[in-house]
Amino acid sequence: MKETKVISMLDTVLEEEITVAGRLLREGQIVAFPTETVYGLGANALDENAIMGIFEAKGRPEDNPLIVHISDLETLELLIESKRDYVADLMAAFWPGPLTMIFRKSDRVPFKTTGGLGTVAIRMPNHPIALALIKAAGVPVAAPSANISGKPSPTVGKYVVRDMMGRVACIIDGGEVSVGLESTVVDVTGEVPMILRPGQVTCDDIARVVGSCEIDPAILKSKGEVLVAKSPGMKYKHYAPEAKVSVFVGDNVRVLKEMETRLVALAKAHRHVALMVFEEDHAFLSQLLKAALSTEESQYVHFLLQGSFKQPNTLAKQLFRDLREADDLSCEEILIHGVPDEGVGTAIMNRLSKASEGRVFKI
Ligand code: TXA
Ligand code: MG
Repeated sequence: MKETKVISMLDTVLEEEITVAGRLLREGQIVAFPTETVYGLGANALDENAIMGIFEAKGRPEDNPLIVHISDLETLELLIESKRDYVADLMAAFWPGPLTMIFRKSDRVPFKTTGGLGTVAIRMPNHPIALALIKAAGVPVAAPSANISGKPSPTVGKYVVRDMMGRVACIIDGGEVSVGLESTVVDVTGEVPMILRPGQVTCDDIARVVGSCEIDPAILKSKGEVLVAKSPGMKYKHYAPEAKVSVFVGDNVRVLKEMETRLVALAKAHRHVALMVFEEDHAFLSQLLKAALSTEESQYVHFLLQGSFKQPNTLAKQLFRDLREADDLSCEEILIHGVPDEGVGTAIMNRLSKASEGRVFKI
């Protein structure tokens, strides 16, 4: 067990504390910090031993490469071999922000950081604490999401503390993040940028800036399979809360009726169930439940509202937090109203497909 210093920085960036945390990073220690997407678990990206510490703290397989975070463009040049012309336009449009770009790496970047690959993932986060910390460290900061491997990425400080207390030197609690899903990862080594992980910055956003963009066929494949998985649990163990997750998409009324059937059965069996639904669904479902459940039974139903379905960014922001919240409420199951596979919805459904181990029902 390590001694972990927890620093609360909810309102303003505290320069003295940032200097201390920056020094810890420079000395090879691990510091968890907020970014606009999710919390990161940072270490000096150029120090192999420090990087080993990340894999150990997370329980993460060492062949999974890390994203290197920078606070200025000069550092980028030290980390990469070359860049395509269109990259300048992407940087101007999306940095600092939730876009990670993959380049051919320079010799300075250790293979430990890149999981043995000849490429390196780089991002300039759009968060005052993250930017100040990287600057104070004076080194590029490799940081995966600050969760124990397999769990939902933490989007509020308390879940970083829960996962990482005793495992890292320092945790900076900056409250709730603004995006809530990990950055879009785009390979910019080819003639046309290719998205490897969907996020808030979409393929259309990128195409608007550089003329074209492609999506890794592996993501498209899972997109076409929005059906009951044939072998749930075999392929994915990612973003998974303790509770069993099921996702429902399609015609609104049919989706809500299907959810009602399932949750009535669970509540009648005295099993806690969480409902991640939109504000628009709430009244309709409450009505159905009033008729179907006794007062005692309805105590097993927990609504975790996701704002309006017209603004899927709210679901994106709250998704990981509420998966963990449902565990805190001792829910055995989580039923989620999914979203159309477009815009930020592509990223949301990508994470939901993994969190549910493929239990996405199209009805
Ligand atoms: O928003 C984010 O990206 C957060 C915050 C902390 O910045 N970080 C994050 O890191 O999500 P992580 O380690 O959980 O996910 C990094 C993703 C993984 O899917 C990894 O395989 C991919 O980026 N990646 C990293 N380097 C790569 C490379 N050289 N080639 C292909 N994929 C790479
Ligand atoms: Mg992660």
